[in-house]
Amino acid sequence: MAPLSSPVHPATSLVSDPHSYAGQGSQRVRHLRLHLAVDFVQRTLAGTATWLLAEPTATATAGQPRETSLVLDTRDLLLESVSLGEAADGPAAAYTLGEVDAVLGQALRMQLPAGTAAVTIRYRTAPSAAALQWLEPAQTAGEFPFLFTQSQAILARTWLPCQDSPGIRFTYDATIEILGPERGQLLALMSAENPQHTAADGRYQFRMGQPIPAYLMALAVGRLDFAPLSERTGIYAEPATLARATYEFADLEQMVAAAEQLYGAYKWGRHDLLVLPPSFPFGGMENPRLTFVTPTILSGDRSLTSLVAHELAHSWSGNLVTNATWNDFWLNEGFTVYFERRIMAHLYGSTYADMLQVLGEADLHHTIGELGATSPATHLQLHLAGRDPDDGLNDIAYEKGCLLLLTLEQLVGRPRLDTFIKEYFARFSFQSMDTTTFIDYLQRELLDSEPGLTERLDLGAWVDGPGLPANAPVARSARFEAVDAVLAQFNSRTPAAALVPTTAEWSSHEWVHFLQGLSPTLPAAELAALDAAFHFTASGNAELLAAWFPLALRAGYAPADAALTQFLLHVGRRKFLVPLYRALLATPNGRARAQEIYRQARPNYHSVATSTLDALLA
Ligand code: BES
Ligand code: ZN
Repeated sequence: MAPLSSPVHPATSLVSDPHSYAGQGSQRVRHLRLHLAVDFVQRTLAGTATWLLAEPTATATAGQPRETSLVLDTRDLLLESVSLGEAADGPAAAYTLGEVDAVLGQALRMQLPAGTAAVTIRYRTAPSAAALQWLEPAQTAGEFPFLFTQSQAILARTWLPCQDSPGIRFTYDATIEILGPERGQLLALMSAENPQHTAADGRYQFRMGQPIPAYLMALAVGRLDFAPLSERTGIYAEPATLARATYEFADLEQMVAAAEQLYGAYKWGRHDLLVLPPSFPFGGMENPRLTFVTPTILSGDRSLTSLVAHELAHSWSGNLVTNATWNDFWLNEGFTVYFERRIMAHLYGSTYADMLQVLGEADLHHTIGELGATSPATHLQLHLAGRDPDDGLNDIAYEKGCLLLLTLEQLVGRPRLDTFIKEYFARFSFQSMDTTTFIDYLQRELLDSEPGLTERLDLGAWVDGPGLPANAPVARSARFEAVDAVLAQFNSRTPAAALVPTTAEWSSHEWVHFLQGLSPTLPAAELAALDAAFHFTASGNAELLAAWFPLALRAGYAPADAALTQFLLHVGRRKFLVPLYRALLATPNGRARAQEIYRQARPNYHSVATSTLDALLA
């Protein structure tokens, strides 16, 4: 196993973060010692957070010790005490709580006497804490309650008073104590070194020895089993789901090995996956050492595993080199999408990765169309001050960011780009990166090396310009060209049934491309013929269903209604929910129907999803 590297001084960012109050204080945190009790009855986490400070002995220039200040982000936390030192019963610290801001929460400002090395906060979370989802047994695959966190972008502060800025990193250790009669059957996991077995007393210890930003703090508690895949990879899932998951993710070790070959050693020790219940609001979340994934990628045919490659790639782009603020989000996601597709090409060939690239570009054009071709929301560099980052982060960072790297690849060649990326990850490991610093670095290391490169790339158009710059390459997929031929046959009235033999070997990607290529206004009778031939409504593939349901809704194809309702009631993944509710709203009487489904489904959704959907369905 690769040795763990632990830098002595976690770097902090010099750029100011509009989504955190932490920069208002002079002190930065360095290490967290967390003790929390998990109470499924009260739906609270309660305990203490001890923060060790980065510069405990700060002195003034004259050599006189001086007071320092520490500012933490909090939102909806109930603070019970704030003490100096490492114990909750230490001397009281002088503190104030700032105004409540609906998005940012409240600043917790502390004035610290010279020489203060730590502060300890005793607190509890609100049952409605936005990062937390508390699930009833019926919302899981088993008979036990479940809890998980989702901290990105700025929700860590709803379960931990912290410096909730991606430019500030800390190490941590934690003790999690599960309360209640079922505690002996529940396992707790974090973005840290994790247990592999349930403890009879419900107490678990964790350690994260590499400095991470607060948005990568994660906790999950549930009836979970572990199955190893290799020395350093494995799967945690509910018992009823574990076998399907180990089948689906069988290539995880090969993905890690491919990623290391591309861009350098994996720095986090183990790389495990946790399969969550279906209400998880995202596809995946790159919590260090323990990626969280949605069960909607358990398609049974290993067709949706690029998501696992994506979260793995974040172990470099994002978790090692971290966007300094949410305005620089494309540095996390654009690199990660590019890296994800390189991993997939390495394992399954470039014809496979080409399909992903074409689908990604189709999504990008769709998003640009929705946002408007001249919208500043289509720039890579964002300006999210004063807004909820959760509303401002969109597909652009992912696919336009990836296309910028593909443009560079075309200009300098893959070997040179690979050397650049590998050095970039090594040079800025455990540090944060903002767009301006990245551009300077790129200029120096790559663009200046060859006359004319700077002009041909035209970074300004990419970073601060709208839509897609003219020099963006357009992907082609040989496998999709075969799909296009079938689409042409279908459009020239070849009966669907006659197309079955040609499509027998298609993956879900080909099917998604096929569905996206159909006329959006096909009448119900044609959809019925397609459904009879290809069984879309009965598919177990969530991506395919998400492409099929809008066609069915638009045509009023009633046989898909029950499957759509079931999907909306069980799946909490926002990427699927938003377009499906929108498609439902656009049908005759759609609002009433959407609202009725939403009323039933809402208790199953995480706050990340309901905050978007409430606005849509109000
Ligand atoms: N880090 C993101 C998820 C995220 C982004 C959470 C912004 C909160 C705010 C994760 O890596 C991601 O991108 N997930 C995607 C899947 C991916 C394959 C595009 C998702 O959840 O759909
Ligand atoms: Zn991502």
